[in-house]
Amino acid sequence: MTQPQQALAVSVSAPDELVRRHATQGATLMAILHAIQDDVGFVPPAVVPPLAQALSLSRAEVHGVITYYHHFRSEPPARVTVQLCRAEACRSMGTEALAQHVEGHTGCKFDSGHHADTELESVFCLGQCALSPSMMINGELYAKVTPQKFDRLFAAAQTRANAGTEETA
Ligand code: FES
Repeated sequence: MTQPQQALAVSVSAPDELVRRHATQGATLMAILHAIQDDVGFVPPAVVPPLAQALSLSRAEVHGVITYYHHFRSEPPARVTVQLCRAEACRSMGTEALAQHVEGHTGCKFDSGHHADTELESVFCLGQCALSPSMMINGELYAKVTPQKFDRLFAAAQTRANAGTEETA
């Protein structure tokens, strides 16, 4: 069975190695967590003990920061992550109807983890209020998204994700 790309990345980066690579002199816990997530796509739970030791913190303190900030994930991200803006300007332009369409199209629910390699996240303002409704798919920003436009963008993102997996297989 093919492993997701991110899991492969972590398997070659042992927790101690990840911490050594990113816990540079003077780096704060937040900076290190960001660096680890940027590196392997998430913050593996196994980095908590070596990270706590490196920073002279308790494991509970490190774990508390990881779980407090929604940005940090403790498992590999989905291959396609959709972040839909559900703040006021986008809501006034139909983002809730779009959210229903997205859930129906993907078979996933917003803010409930990832299933079938897709994750749907609610976010609140992407700085594109004049071009509502806005969303990001795998970090790419899209504006004035209609259901039809979403279907095209999502299919393209899935194709890119599949191509990326084949390249690393
Ligand atoms: S409210 Fe949606 S981008 Fe600002």
